[in-house]
Amino acid sequence: MILTVTLNPALDVTYWVDRLALRSATKVRRVRARAGGKGVNVARVAAAVHGPGTVCVTGLAGGSRGEAIREAIAALGVREEFEVIAGESRQTIAIVEENPQPTELREPGPTVTPREWDGFTRRFRVLAKEASVVVLSGSLPPGTPPDAYATLVRAAHEVRSSVIVDTSGPALWDACTAAPDIVKPNEAELPGVDTVVMSSQESVLAAARLLRDHGAGAVIASLGRAGSVAVTADGALRVSHPRVDGNPVGAGDALVAGLALALASGQPLGPAALARASGLAMASVAGSGEVDPAEAERLADMVRTRWIGDGQ
Ligand SMILES: Nc1ncnc2c1ncn2[C@@H]1O[C@H](COP(=O)(O)OP(=O)(O)OP(=O)(O)O)[C@@H](O)[C@H]1O
Ligand SMILES: [Mg+2]
Repeated sequence: MILTVTLNPALDVTYWVDRLALRSATKVRRVRARAGGKGVNVARVAAAVHGPGTVCVTGLAGGSRGEAIREAIAALGVREEFEVIAGESRQTIAIVEENPQPTELREPGPTVTPREWDGFTRRFRVLAKEASVVVLSGSLPPGTPPDAYATLVRAAHEVRSSVIVDTSGPALWDACTAAPDIVKPNEAELPGVDTVVMSSQESVLAAARLLRDHGAGAVIASLGRAGSVAVTADGALRVSHPRVDGNPVGAGDALVAGLALALASGQPLGPAALARASGLAMASVAGSGEVDPAEAERLADMVRTRWIGDGQ
């Protein structure tokens, strides 16, 4: 089983409009609400490839939005094991005009009480026993301890599950101290990389090595349409592929789903596994977050990998 954790899930509401009129009224053409949050996206992609019964989603969810999130996940056929909390889960509003770049309104999410956090960690320890791979994605909600991810990584390792962490800032740095098997920062999330200047392969490699020195087993640094750089104990690989047109939001989550599937099947994080995971990410761009597994396989054939250094 692949267990994904979303501590701060959202009900993602998308409004399609012709043109958003600020400080005035806008007619909505179409509206869609679906369960969101990075771990939910990872689960959706993993379930599309591996079958819905092989994936479980957990985290903290509350109020009527929390209920809507849980129902939407269950409707995907994915097992849902959220800890129910008192606060109302957040809603994210995306307003899509003809211009494909949406306007987004993001709420911070509810504050988690120490008692709710304890309840969640107990539930997590039980679920992690059933999982071969645990995926920890996204930011920490208000009220959770700053070392929340490090605690979960250790708990998962105690029951011999592999762990992937996809987060940023202090949460990523702290998670590394507990030696997660993989971390997957994007370019902006790499420590010390100046993203104003287009980062060079050398600075990406240096940042990835910094995360490995800090404890991460492997670092997959995703570089948007430019592909990724993977640094594992076996060496550093540059992964490149053609650019795909579409919506790149959630491509990182699809890449993480691919990495989780590789770990779940015991496949080493070498060229074949990275090509397959990148194919899922490219298919996610093409499908605006929805992944067609056959299309992903076709796209994976276009991925090229080459060794660019050792793992140190
Ligand atoms: N336009 C694109 N064409 C082809 N592949 C893409 C494109 N954008 C992203 N990808 C693929 O998706 C992977 C992840 O993308 P990116 O680095 O943007 O992740 P991210 O910023 O973590 O995304 P998110 O957090 O929204 O899920 C890249 O490594 C690449 O393989
Ligand atoms: Mg990301």
